[in-house]
Amino acid sequence: MQELKKATDFPISENVMRMRESSTLAAMQAAVAMRAAGVDVVDLGPGEPDFDTPEHIKAAAVEALRAGETKYTPTAGTRALQRAIIDYYGREFNALYEPAEVMATAGGKQAIFNAVVTLVNPGDEVLIPRPYWVTFPEIVTFAGANPVFIETEETQFQLTAEQVERALTSRTRLIILNSPSNPSGRVIPPAEFKRIMELVAERGIYAVSDECYLRFVYPPAEVFSAASLAPELRAHLCIAGSFSKTYAMTGWRMGYALAPAVWVKAMLKVQGHSTSNPNSIAQRAAAAAFTGSQECVAEMLAEYRRRRDWLIKALREVTGLRCFEPEGAFYAFPDVRGCLKGEVKTSGAFADKLLHDAQTVVTDGAGFGAEGYIRISYATSLDRLQEGVKRIRRVAEQLVS
Ligand SMILES: Cc1ncc(COP(=O)(O)O)c(C=O)c1O
Repeated sequence: MQELKKATDFPISENVMRMRESSTLAAMQAAVAMRAAGVDVVDLGPGEPDFDTPEHIKAAAVEALRAGETKYTPTAGTRALQRAIIDYYGREFNALYEPAEVMATAGGKQAIFNAVVTLVNPGDEVLIPRPYWVTFPEIVTFAGANPVFIETEETQFQLTAEQVERALTSRTRLIILNSPSNPSGRVIPPAEFKRIMELVAERGIYAVSDECYLRFVYPPAEVFSAASLAPELRAHLCIAGSFSKTYAMTGWRMGYALAPAVWVKAMLKVQGHSTSNPNSIAQRAAAAAFTGSQECVAEMLAEYRRRRDWLIKALREVTGLRCFEPEGAFYAFPDVRGCLKGEVKTSGAFADKLLHDAQTVVTDGAGFGAEGYIRISYATSLDRLQEGVKRIRRVAEQLVS
């Protein structure tokens, strides 16, 4: 048997060779390695809640195990979970969905993957507003289509229908919307969202609305689901939902898609030949999350808000940083260009300096298509945030002076 000498000897497909490693996971690994070496790391990298999954959700999973719910389920998920999703959207957003328009997925990520690969053909253009969640362009490229980025810095990353309109071409097939946004925390106001969807419907294209951070919106901004739009707009829409952040369930891998029945049918074909159904036990837990008390969500939201209010104010006091107030999610996204001096020419170099000189992990904005910015997660306790900002201030002041 021939021995492989170099990684390049192995014939990895071109599709996967083109794929970039996730920069958010890279930040996580850097923190793990330093912690293992006994370093006092302040980790402001995490894209996941620091809370535990609420007890009543865990109890539902235990119950499912005891009841022997350990077999394959329908590809679209159990009837009980489909019902829970439909009822939740009916109750919360006055949106009526039929079972044929709903499927459970292994995390919101799989819903986005299913939606994109079932819709685009090679050469199609997919609009992605900058800054974007790292996975969007990777899925689009994997599916053979071309990501086309919409610049939004002129409006401090607030996407407008006008910006979307300017980016449309005859090859545009799809737009990926993400409100609240990871990494910017920006929320598209409902009226603007509607204008964007009207444009989408008018042009006969489609939209994926990634509602992963759906519930994490801080007043006066409003929680809004595209599910509440009129049926003629919904005919062009796939909602990719997730239990990961709302219920602190990242490890459970539960999400869902809501879309026109023909689109769901195609997505079921892809899922049926890849992962089949999501984990049967996690499905029972996800159903309990949607049918049970929502008090846990309100409590987490209140804590995130407390941290956000403190963090944004503190970051604005750091010389060289500029920081708008995000309306949602759990990230601050400051502009660090005022600190780029000497050897530190990019936000990546700034993030590296924070890591090596101040043992503080943040995520470089360049990975999200926004060079010059860093993402700071506040899914960490207030005292660690305070320590982190102290360290960031030290490094920033040293650079600026
Ligand atoms: C914007 C966005 N969408 C989707 C996801 C996917 O979440 P999951 O697959 O855990 O549901 C994430 C996770 O970080 C995210 O930040």
